[in-house]
Amino acid sequence: MNKLIQIDPKDFVTKPHFLFERQWLLLTAGDFAENDFNCMTIGWGSIGMMWNKPYVAVVVRPTRYTYQFMEKYPDFTLTAFPDTFRKELAYLGSHSGRDEDKLSNTNLIAIKAQKVASPSFVQAELSIECRKIYTADFDPSRFLDPDIEKNYPQKDYHRVYYGEIIAILGTHNYLLDA
Ligand SMILES: Cc1cc2nc3c(=O)[nH]c(=O)nc-3n(C[C@H](O)[C@H](O)[C@H](O)COP(=O)(O)O)c2cc1C
Repeated sequence: MNKLIQIDPKDFVTKPHFLFERQWLLLTAGDFAENDFNCMTIGWGSIGMMWNKPYVAVVVRPTRYTYQFMEKYPDFTLTAFPDTFRKELAYLGSHSGRDEDKLSNTNLIAIKAQKVASPSFVQAELSIECRKIYTADFDPSRFLDPDIEKNYPQKDYHRVYYGEIIAILGTHNYLLDA
């Protein structure tokens, strides 16, 4: 179990391209207390400032089981793990919670998050708690680069969710040096 400290968004340090593209993140939405949640691995998204709020944006195809939880519940978490958990992230990114209790087929253990109903994880080295503030569906008529359409052979265009960052808990590596 990692010892996580509370990090103010202004003091949060990360390499966003590394975090999304290489390390991957687990996106989880639902209600931990009700035992009604689902998670999936994500590799696309962004992090920054919008409407004077620190945010993360994630994109979810409507075909994902997690999509139903993103729609039903007001918040979500994003968690990052040490490299030793890559196998679990690969599993959760290639199996659907629609077909199985996929979390029980990994070593990851969900725990109550600090400020939102969606859970965090015991093994996380970073946990970002978010409240949904904006959603939109990508409109293919506005793709200015034809390469983008190649990502959608099934026409299952992502829905983007902007989440205001409500809390960040992380190891010291994610804290700006004072
Ligand atoms: C590295 C990696 C990154 C992924 N990134 C995304 C993503 O950003 N958005 C998305 O909709 N699916 C993404 N996926 C696919 C989902 O994680 C995958 O379809 C998962 O099985 C969905 O689970 P669910 O049906 O339980 O929601 C990614 C998968 C992997 C392995």
